[in-house]
Amino acid sequence: LTLEVDPALVDKGGFPHHMLREIYEAPLSLLRTLYTLQEKYLQLASRLILGADNIYIIANGTSLHAGMVASYYLSELVGVSPVVTSAAEFPLYYVENIGPGSLVVAISQSGETGDVLSSLYEAKIRGATILGLTNYIGSRLARLSNVYLPIAAGPELSVPATKTFTSTLLLLYLVSLAASKESGRIDSITYREKMESVKSVASRLSETMTRMDEEVKKAIIHARNCRGGYIVSRGITYPLALEAALKLKEASYFHAEGVEAGEFKHGPFVLVEKGFMTGFIIPVERLAAEATYPLILSAIEAGASTVVFSLEGDEKLSQIQTETVSLIRTPRAERHLAPIAYSIPLQLFAYRLGVDLGRPIDAPRYLTKAVLR
Ligand code: AGP
Repeated sequence: LTLEVDPALVDKGGFPHHMLREIYEAPLSLLRTLYTLQEKYLQLASRLILGADNIYIIANGTSLHAGMVASYYLSELVGVSPVVTSAAEFPLYYVENIGPGSLVVAISQSGETGDVLSSLYEAKIRGATILGLTNYIGSRLARLSNVYLPIAAGPELSVPATKTFTSTLLLLYLVSLAASKESGRIDSITYREKMESVKSVASRLSETMTRMDEEVKKAIIHARNCRGGYIVSRGITYPLALEAALKLKEASYFHAEGVEAGEFKHGPFVLVEKGFMTGFIIPVERLAAEATYPLILSAIEAGASTVVFSLEGDEKLSQIQTETVSLIRTPRAERHLAPIAYSIPLQLFAYRLGVDLGRPIDAPRYLTKAVLR
């Protein structure tokens, strides 16, 4: 049974927009994802990962960015390097390499995105196994999957995806963690400890949400009059730079690009000047973080309006506070959970800028959610 829902008729729970309500719901959604997932399905998914000859992660938009983060999880925790690609590219350029030993991990919040579904038909014809991740268990993606895992974030009505992104990241982390345990790379005690730390990140995010929102409200002054901007990061948080740029386009109609920090000086820097915004997500890797501080100083020197997203307690940053810089701090989380922690202030930033610029937030022009139930 499919029930079409008009978001305009659904109560926003006291929030002015569904997008803001859904960002604030993220900590609860994380717990829902954690508690919905059954150990036996995690084990099944781990075995598929460990037994595959090759792994492809396919998705579009925000789900693709989650898939990119998952490639870091799988590489570091399991020692496998999946190919991550847009579901639009997959049937054109990758499908010939697919065979009975292939595992295709398909991620789709709605489970109804056309390119994902057509990729799956192609993969299935060639004998691949499908591991699906979706927020809608009655979706076609779920039906086409050999094994599917629920994102379980609860319904998402705003077109810009928010809480489903953080819950998808968590689900991908949990699967990678389970595969890591199954392969003997981590023991059961470490596994349990890491599972526990998910709960503390969720509760820290909930406690700090309002404070982060206040910091974000002050920071949008650095973007409001800019003609565009960059979001720069590196390593496991680089996909978040891409995701933040996407969210800024959707929710604020603000042109932004995600830039890998190591590439910043190889071309993108030419645009950096007064009237241009540079946003930095401080990487969680120490060396990468250290390499980012001089980039921030260069951007400030070039006159750019600068916003820095950091983890709480980053001492280094107190030295570079000037009136052209705003600092937004998210709870410190262990390396693999940092992308989740960073997502919240980045989404709030896109939301608050959109409100400030008078954008239609929940329903950006030309875009629709693939399906609403
Ligand atoms: C997210 O903010 C976007 N609305 C969009 O990029 C979306 O993530 C993409 O269309 C994929 O949707 P899906 O996860 O439902 O497949």
